[in-house]
Amino acid sequence: MEIENAAVLVTGASRGLGRELSIALARAGARVAMVARGEEALEEAVAAANAAARGPHGERGAAHGLAFDVGDKTAIHRIAGAAVALVGNLDVVVHNASTLGRVPMPLLLDTDCEELERVLAVNLLGPFRLTKALAGSMFLRKTGVVAFVSSDAAVSAYARWGAYGVSKAAQDHLARTFAAELDPVRFFAVDPGEMDTKMHADAIPDADRSTLADPRDVALRLVTLLTRAARVPNGARVLASDFPKAELR
Ligand SMILES: NC(=O)c1ccc[n+]([C@@H]2O[C@H](COP(=O)([O-])OP(=O)(O)OC[C@H]3O[C@@H](n4cnc5c(N)ncnc54)[C@H](OP(=O)(O)O)[C@@H]3O)[C@@H](O)[C@H]2O)c1
Repeated sequence: MEIENAAVLVTGASRGLGRELSIALARAGARVAMVARGEEALEEAVAAANAAARGPHGERGAAHGLAFDVGDKTAIHRIAGAAVALVGNLDVVVHNASTLGRVPMPLLLDTDCEELERVLAVNLLGPFRLTKALAGSMFLRKTGVVAFVSSDAAVSAYARWGAYGVSKAAQDHLARTFAAELDPVRFFAVDPGEMDTKMHADAIPDADRSTLADPRDVALRLVTLLTRAARVPNGARVLASDFPKAELR
């Protein structure tokens, strides 16, 4: 996938990995629609992406903020419609927005069904609905990449990570199944590894932050993954750490 001039949608784009990925993609010349709920942080992230896009080489990309909740089913077509209106038919969708649910995270037996429903609404149904809204156009155009940001909790069972882990495991399988149905559109689940972000601090407040990856570095690895999408088996679950950091001007 050529990133320069690509139309991209990134959810969870106001902080952490989504913010850094949006900035990196804008810097590489993409037009980026950035989704998150909190408007103030989103505006700051959009400004940072636009500043990166201008860079020393002139205006090469443009970022736009869309303040919506991906767990709200009434928002999905508004997100999809606004994104296409702002950046054009999408070439890349990155499902990055995610919730842990209640923190500290409860054991499964102590997890209310409504809590599990909310985690699934954001982490699974939101990406599912958005993909349904956007991937048909990609399939008709025989192009496109849809990346689901996963976690090692999708494959390993950790006490207290049940609702989140279930949502990420199901999301991985969405990627595999969409790949089986919609090839040549590319679908991946990508595990970013542990990163120094708010989500990590919320989950494990006493973690040694020096052991955590900088989300800016992980974002550059994801840019490489997107550029190599045609060479990665469709539906694969991949580790961001297996890809080198993109060298952007
Ligand atoms: N950090 C780690 O160590 C780690 C490890 C493995 C996997 N991951 C995965 O990596 C991805 C990025 O995580 P992160 O650590 O960068 O998280 P983060 O710092 O908490 O950022 C999450 C982003 O998602 C947005 N968001 C949350 N709920 C949303 C919703 N319902 N609708 C729209 N936007 C929403 C947040 O903004 P608002 O709150 O304003 O909406 C924010 O922009 C996630 O999929 C996470 O599961 C992270």
